[in-house]
Amino acid sequence: MTGTPAAAKTSDHDPIGHLSPTMLEGHVAFITGGGSGINLGIARAFARCGAAIAICGRTEERLAGAAEELRGMGAKVTYKAADVRDPEALQASVDHAVSELGDISITVAGAAGNFFAKAEEMSANAFRTVVDIDLMGAYHAARATFPSLQKTRGSILFISASQAFKATKYQAHVGAAKAGIEMLMKDLAVEWGGHGIRSNSLVPGPVEGTEGMARLAGPTGDDLWKRAVPLGRYAQTEEIGAMAAVLSGPLGAYVTGSQYTVDGGLGLVGSGHISDAVEKALFSEG
Ligand code: HXC
Repeated sequence: MTGTPAAAKTSDHDPIGHLSPTMLEGHVAFITGGGSGINLGIARAFARCGAAIAICGRTEERLAGAAEELRGMGAKVTYKAADVRDPEALQASVDHAVSELGDISITVAGAAGNFFAKAEEMSANAFRTVVDIDLMGAYHAARATFPSLQKTRGSILFISASQAFKATKYQAHVGAAKAGIEMLMKDLAVEWGGHGIRSNSLVPGPVEGTEGMARLAGPTGDDLWKRAVPLGRYAQTEEIGAMAAVLSGPLGAYVTGSQYTVDGGLGLVGSGHISDAVEKALFSEG
């Protein structure tokens, strides 16, 4: 055999490198929350696959920094700050993206907010804030990009979370919002399928270096979380980005109304602490 096998050219920790650099050529992606974390990881993956990218978020400086990084990767990038809770501001950000880059063919509804709080203690405004950012923000993004998606026969990817289907203490607000996102995803797959628009969701597990994990692992530390994940580690943002690129581009052309879990197996682990106790009782020495 001559030459280097393609798989040997990129490391296992560079999953995007295994995708074609032209896979998303001609695509324009609009990504809410794209200035940081998982959503910036998705933007990086799209950039490496040849897409033009518009990012949206609340903080202008954060967007500017992310845009510079993405441009450094050779992508055409634009941004206009908006809070996803404000449909008019979000529409202005979408309009700006379309005027700079052309019609949007991939929408990523990724902006999210999270904190631990007891259901009986948090204020109505605290609960509403997360529903407004996660669920209403996702709806606003889908609605504002619909005219573009209709023209391009594009796709929407909702960033969900296991809280949507696994009951979690002190996450009632997040669970309600993310469960709503899952149903919105399915409703739009059915309602907009006739326009050629696909709608899917991605459920990331714990991801390295994100604000979400800083918040969720804040009280306990990372080790406890890592021990709970069957693969024993956090995801890299690139690993989430690679799956987002597959689902949003031509490889996912017949995939709609589906939920994809990229969590290292975490969602499979039921009563992890009971399994750990059984293991310790049965198999630990001494
Ligand atoms: C109880 C809280 C609270 C807390 C805020 N509130 N933090 N209540 N416990 N820790 C209450 C406030 O008192 C207020 O209610 C209301 O929520 C709104 O708070 P504000 O600070 O005014 O809102 P805002 O500035 O808009 O900030 C939104 C936010 C914030 C969600 C509260 O945390 C944020 O901006 N987060 C964005 C980044 C983020 O969270 N990323 C992680 C996403 S991870 P009152 O009644 O006082 O007015 C994720 C899931 C990942 O989504 C899952 C992985 C497994």
